[in-house]
Amino acid sequence: MAGSGKFFVGGNWKCNGTKDSVSKLVTELNAATLEPDVDVVVAPPFIYIDQVKSSLTDRIEVSAQNVWIGKGGAYTGEISAEQLVDIGCQWVILGHSERRHIIGEDDEFIGKKAAYALSQNVKVIACIGELLEEREAGKTFDVCFKQMKAFADSITNWADVVVAYEPVWAIGTGKVATPEQAQEVHAAVRDWLKTNVSPDVASSIRIIYGGSVNAANCAELAKKEDIDGFLVGGASLKGPDFATIINSVTSKKVAA
Ligand code: PGA
Repeated sequence: MAGSGKFFVGGNWKCNGTKDSVSKLVTELNAATLEPDVDVVVAPPFIYIDQVKSSLTDRIEVSAQNVWIGKGGAYTGEISAEQLVDIGCQWVILGHSERRHIIGEDDEFIGKKAAYALSQNVKVIACIGELLEEREAGKTFDVCFKQMKAFADSITNWADVVVAYEPVWAIGTGKVATPEQAQEVHAAVRDWLKTNVSPDVASSIRIIYGGSVNAANCAELAKKEDIDGFLVGGASLKGPDFATIINSVTSKKVAA
């Protein structure tokens, strides 16, 4: 079963950039010619969101890279969903492997963050993905389904959720999953959603791939029927390359 959702490409800038480099990247993105039938979102570091919001074309939406689990208050160093809404930030990336494995966020914490963000009308890019040793031990599906279950335990409305499959061994390593490896997991996650959430959610949700996607490998990946777009790290810091990845929707259309 292939997905029926609009192609979606997100740029995760991570902890990169300065006021000057952000301004240059925004200028490049504003100048790029983008295919119309793609949802495009970029995720700057919190402190640059306002700068990006006020200078970036409305064609591209803006995401945060994290959010607090509930209503704001005495939580030093955190940013609340209410504050994201206040500055017009419509999306948040949750469950990214760097937050799971470096910061130590667990499945339940991430699921609750997703539910709270959605309750405040902040849309969620929900990330899942296995470590290399988990893949080598044949546990890829187990890990991804467990992470999906934690989201499903908290999320009731999936209309504003995009799932990002990002094998940890492919993130920032230059070692992209093959189109077949990605397709296999995307199809399995869609099937999991069909059984455990609903057939409607399974067919309409976007399942995007992340992990060393670049301007050269995006077209082959985009052709796979269950790959509905990309979450891009390193290559999203270069405007022309990110535009090429967005426009890889054209190879999907040819393949269809
Ligand atoms: P990468 O990062 O494209 O640099 O591998 C992807 C991600 O972490 O979202």
